[in-house]
Amino acid sequence: MTTKHFFAALALGCILASCGTEKSEYDRYYEQDYRDSVATAKANEPAPAPAVKAPATAARKPAAEQPKQHPGAMLIAGSDCTACHSNNQKLVGPAYMDVANKYEDNDKNRNYLVGKVKEGGAGVWGQVPMPAHPNLSNADAGKMVDYILSLND
Ligand code: HEC
Repeated sequence: MTTKHFFAALALGCILASCGTEKSEYDRYYEQDYRDSVATAKANEPAPAPAVKAPATAARKPAAEQPKQHPGAMLIAGSDCTACHSNNQKLVGPAYMDVANKYEDNDKNRNYLVGKVKEGGAGVWGQVPMPAHPNLSNADAGKMVDYILSLND
């Protein structure tokens, strides 16, 4: 018998004997035991709670917790200001962040800027004039300026 044949015979013998489908008493005992324990565990398991589906908006904070938009930001968004200004980019007029960095947030600057928004004017940022907003109330212009001045870094 060659070595090759010897191993082939060995493998065949193995398959026919215990290493094949034939299981030992020991294996069968533990398999049964395992199946029984799974069955008991299943039977004792509390009924699974109905899966709670996370709402699609889970990542978003509920409206009440969301940081309120600054009233000045909302007034600006509803006005013509956006045509010439953005928060962080110079358009026709200066970026609000640049304005905020130029002026310290104090009453004097606040009053000056409220006046400028209402009356318009030129010469501070360039020769292009800021148009007047005569219909804007002091209160609304004040909220806008408060918001603009809050954008400093
Ligand atoms: C037609 C374009 C235009 C519109 C509309 C406009 N602005 Fe301006 N704004 C300018 C320009 C140009 C300047 C720069 C003026 C200057 O150099 O003195 C300016 C300057 C400003 C400044 C800085 C003023 C200073 O003296 O430093 C503030 C604050 C401002 N605008 C707020 C507003 C607000 C708030 C609105 C809306 C109610 C608005 N702007 C609408 C063009 C505009």
